[in-house]
Amino acid sequence: MSTSRKTLAIVLAAGQGTRMRSEKPKVLHQIGHLSMLGHVLKALSDASVDKTAVVIGHNADLVRTDIAANAPDVDVFEQTERLGTAHAVLAARKAIEAFDGDHILVLYGDTPLVTADTLQAISDGLEDGSDVVVTGFHTDEPGKYGRFIMDGERLMAIREAKDATESELAITFCNGGLKGFTREHCLSILDRIDRNNAQGEYYLTDAVEIANEIGLSVSAVPISETEVLGVNDRAQLARAADLFQQRRRMDAMVSGVTLEAPETVFFAYDTQLAIDVTVEPNVVFGPGVSVGSGSQIRAFSHLEGTRVETGAVIGPYARLRPGTVVHNGAKIGNFVETKKTTVERGAKINHLSYVGDARVGEAANIGAGTITCNYDGVSKYQTNIRAGAFIGSNSALVAPVTIGEGAFVGSGSVITDDVPDHALALGRGRQVVKQRWASAFRAKRKN
Ligand code: UD1
Ligand code: MG
Repeated sequence: MSTSRKTLAIVLAAGQGTRMRSEKPKVLHQIGHLSMLGHVLKALSDASVDKTAVVIGHNADLVRTDIAANAPDVDVFEQTERLGTAHAVLAARKAIEAFDGDHILVLYGDTPLVTADTLQAISDGLEDGSDVVVTGFHTDEPGKYGRFIMDGERLMAIREAKDATESELAITFCNGGLKGFTREHCLSILDRIDRNNAQGEYYLTDAVEIANEIGLSVSAVPISETEVLGVNDRAQLARAADLFQQRRRMDAMVSGVTLEAPETVFFAYDTQLAIDVTVEPNVVFGPGVSVGSGSQIRAFSHLEGTRVETGAVIGPYARLRPGTVVHNGAKIGNFVETKKTTVERGAKINHLSYVGDARVGEAANIGAGTITCNYDGVSKYQTNIRAGAFIGSNSALVAPVTIGEGAFVGSGSVITDDVPDHALALGRGRQVVKQRWASAFRAKRKN
């Protein structure tokens, strides 16, 4: 946050999310392999807020565990009864009281597309002298959103749809939910909110009217509707995921990545692609992938937990599983699966192979149909293929095993013992040829 002011963020995440029809709490549903709550916390950390508190529901142990594992600096508060958004903020009263800074932001855990820029805009509004800053957006379909009651440029009140009159319902400037308060006035406003409304809830939105009544200044910051897209069911989750993907594709292209068919490439929240990476159609990035400059990810490949260095070629139809590292200029071709494997510079695994728990040395060549037999049903074992080794097609390397530098493995071998440097290993039946056997056989069958 480019402000000298200290900021506390309170994230409301006490929704049960019944419309998700899920065993899992709503805010733990994922977009790009990160929970919705994780996305909000990431925006807060991108904006460098000083302190974050999350308000969770009663018995939301899964949410508590998730926060402890992924964001241990975040304080967690429990809202024991779900009595409305203002009530939820006050569940974190102790965090507000203990906070010695100036700005307080309130966000929703089910609004995953919020950006650090928007948090900055709220902060700027507070810095410019507003006591309450509210984000709003213009929409042709105001539906269930709270409506902004404006008096010229001044925001006078927010009317929840359920409490609005016919003419108020026609308003198209709506409440985005995210708000900012000055620390000085936050609690005195929140403590004045009552529950005289259609839903019998303590509405955080009433903060606007109250602030106006007691002579404080309120401003509205217009933001894009996508940023405040709230997720209440699986269709909205899919919509949010789609918007997230569109954003990531655009970011990638703007930063120098070629996407041949952007709408068919799927990113994880942490995918990192360097400049001049080319991604062909229908590629999926799971979590933990980085690709170095000039590398090519060809069509229909699936990568997760993988680091690809520069100038490498992956796919088409490659599956790189966690723990794969592909060094500069190496090639992994079609129908190749790797796992916990380092492929050193210039090595090639071009066709139809499984290489797991292995190291493939510099410029080694792995023939079509090579399998590292890394598992005996109980434990996993390592295969070490040294630099310049040549593995003939359709070989099974039974781990633990080492293939020496520059060594050859004959096609169709089953290799169970280490192969010395520069040796040839053959592990297959010797070929037998019986002259004229076939014609004799056919002649016999005809009789
Ligand atoms: C809220 C706003 C509405 C705005 C809309 C934007 C209020 C009263 N209404 O409506 O003006 O247009 O968001 O998406 O603020 N929560 C709790 N505890 C509670 C109640 C809610 O933690 O007791 C959390 C929910 O989990 C959710 C957020 O607060 O993350 C918003 O609550 P929700 O009930 O979804 O409010 P909306 O009806 O969407
Ligand atoms: Mg909502």
